[in-house]
Amino acid sequence: MESFAPFAFDPISVFRDVFRRKSGYAINEPGNVSPKPGTKAMIVIAKATTPVNKEGYSLQVSPSGIYISAANEQGIFYAFQTLRQIMRMDALPDAKGEARTWQLPAVEIKDYPQFQYRGLHLDVCRHFMPVDFVKRYIDLLAYYKMNRFHWHLTDDQGWRIEIKGYPKLQEIAAWREETLVGHYSETPDVYDGVRHGGYYTQEEIKDVVKYAAQRGVTIIPEIEMPGHAQAALAAYPELACTPGPFKVAQTWGVFDDVFCPNEETFTFLQHVLDEVMTLFPSPYIHIGGDECPKTRWKESAFCQDLMKREGLKDEHELQSYFIRRIEQYVNSKGRNIIGWDEILEGGLAPNATVMSWRGMSGGIEAAQSGHDVVMTPGTHCYFDHYQADPAFEPLAIGGLTTLEKVYSFNPIPSKLTAEQARHILGAQGNLWTEYIDSPGKAEYMAYPRAIALAEVLWTPADRKDWNGFVQRLNGHLERLDGWKVNYAKRLKVPAAIIQSGPKGLELTWKTDLPGQSIYYSRDTTGHSWDTATSGESTLFSNPGHIYYKTDNSGIKEINYKPTKTRNATISSSIPPSGSYPGRQGVMTLGDGLTGKAEFNGEDWCAWNGAPFTIGISFDSPTAIDSITLGLLSSTGSWIHLPQSIEIEGSKDLKTYERISGWVPSNLPAGRNQITINTPKTNVKSLRITIYPLKSIPEGKPGAGHVGWTFIDEIGVY
Ligand code: ACM
Repeated sequence: MESFAPFAFDPISVFRDVFRRKSGYAINEPGNVSPKPGTKAMIVIAKATTPVNKEGYSLQVSPSGIYISAANEQGIFYAFQTLRQIMRMDALPDAKGEARTWQLPAVEIKDYPQFQYRGLHLDVCRHFMPVDFVKRYIDLLAYYKMNRFHWHLTDDQGWRIEIKGYPKLQEIAAWREETLVGHYSETPDVYDGVRHGGYYTQEEIKDVVKYAAQRGVTIIPEIEMPGHAQAALAAYPELACTPGPFKVAQTWGVFDDVFCPNEETFTFLQHVLDEVMTLFPSPYIHIGGDECPKTRWKESAFCQDLMKREGLKDEHELQSYFIRRIEQYVNSKGRNIIGWDEILEGGLAPNATVMSWRGMSGGIEAAQSGHDVVMTPGTHCYFDHYQADPAFEPLAIGGLTTLEKVYSFNPIPSKLTAEQARHILGAQGNLWTEYIDSPGKAEYMAYPRAIALAEVLWTPADRKDWNGFVQRLNGHLERLDGWKVNYAKRLKVPAAIIQSGPKGLELTWKTDLPGQSIYYSRDTTGHSWDTATSGESTLFSNPGHIYYKTDNSGIKEINYKPTKTRNATISSSIPPSGSYPGRQGVMTLGDGLTGKAEFNGEDWCAWNGAPFTIGISFDSPTAIDSITLGLLSSTGSWIHLPQSIEIEGSKDLKTYERISGWVPSNLPAGRNQITINTPKTNVKSLRITIYPLKSIPEGKPGAGHVGWTFIDEIGVY
């Protein structure tokens, strides 16, 4: 990718400005001078004659001055960022009036980036972000030597760029009546009743583009098509396949009403792109392309007829036709398109660059067919995911993408040949803002993960060092404090690998950051803590609460309630599903720990199919008064209580007699603990046969299918 010659790129002014604010000294105007021995310290900038990389630089600090050599302004800018970083001046408050002194280490640095595309994305549609914040976001990413800002400007929930030819985009598409409260998966839906929106005027956009260019950052604008178009359709319903009317979306997800591939739509989009290309000098225009349901196109006589005329075999090829037409238009203006990896489906437009978000496979396919790729896989690059234990974090969309996970990212898949790998331009962190409703929360989600990604993109993979990064990060967190960035402080996820057996509950401690201590306590108030390190194990033989934490985490709690199953062997006639196997297989059912309604495959064992039998064998004859089962009901996820349960016991492990049984009454959603009385039974072995719900009733999700059965614990008392 040829880097666009940024206008008004101004590394020297940007540095002079920061230096004056932080040191209290002004640097003299630049002049064209030769350094003479014995002169006062000065900063000398020279043009590199044999640069290794067009963004590279060398920096020498000695008693006589600071010498920078670079091929162009990009390199000079990065030399200045390094200078700022080694001076640590950004950690200081502004020097108001007084002048400061500090020492600069004598260094000799030769430095250049591994990847040419080093990006951060910001969604301003789900929640509008003010211009000042957008500039601050760009300032920070440039400080960390990133050079692309992907500005997600249009989506179902709002259109955020002024288009002078289409005023209803400003009047209608930029505003929604209200917004969903809480997580999308919660029911019932609750809305805040507050009108939300805004857009950037063309003057504001020009100002931001210039601001970014001064810092070597190219802004890649995204205009979403053919999907994620509901806000535009609310303003111009004639661009849809059905008459409408449409509303600017108030909730999250993927919507069926998308642009219809008719001539009105192409005229509209070409006009929009004309204005966009006038505002943004970027060689790349992002045209979206993701998550476009084909529902309306399938139902539309116009679309079906168009497909016949154009010889398109399905709606994916129709999407490809759509994108190719747009690509042709954008190419005719001397620019190229980038699209999300769905643009591969139905055939990739000839000159398109692919942004691989659904994992790396789209990017691999594109690179193998000779297309350029920017990697943004959800697993490592989605900064809207949780970054630490969700139990203690502000609401996020889901997932868990820790700092360490981001740092571990390698944008080059090992599958690619060296030739194909050259198509991987770099990577980008994405910040979708469904659950990010303020600049402060945006910073919280982006930092410090963006710093980890910046290092992934700058440093050679074999020079990366997680422990070293964590140490250096402390200094960067001080700089973020200096800027009053609301970064996330809870990066240390304490975890316990749980093993249970006859002796009790054994927890093997684990932290995300090296050298971290874990503190644990049995005191219900959690006041007296013992210390362990990652990898150590602790055995808890007595029932009750166990609390644990790290320095920067919330307190996690386990309630250990072993029953007579603790000394039993548990088996099942059919193993639980591979997706929900339990942390110790079916032995999980006797580990003394219960699960939560937000189910996972550690606490819960699950089955989906034929009736199955759980066997529980004791070492010696055991008196039993009751049996409890923890069962989940979550009908939205096809999880139902069983149709019935039968319990048999044996004294000799040969003959079994029915002891008791159970059928469900009206139990609430969530985890239910049921008790089956078995007064004064003496057995060596139990057989518990579970009959799953054979057919989910009409009107419920998954109607007609067998219900899933989820069990977390079987207690024997
Ligand atoms: C995306 O996250 N839908 C690109």
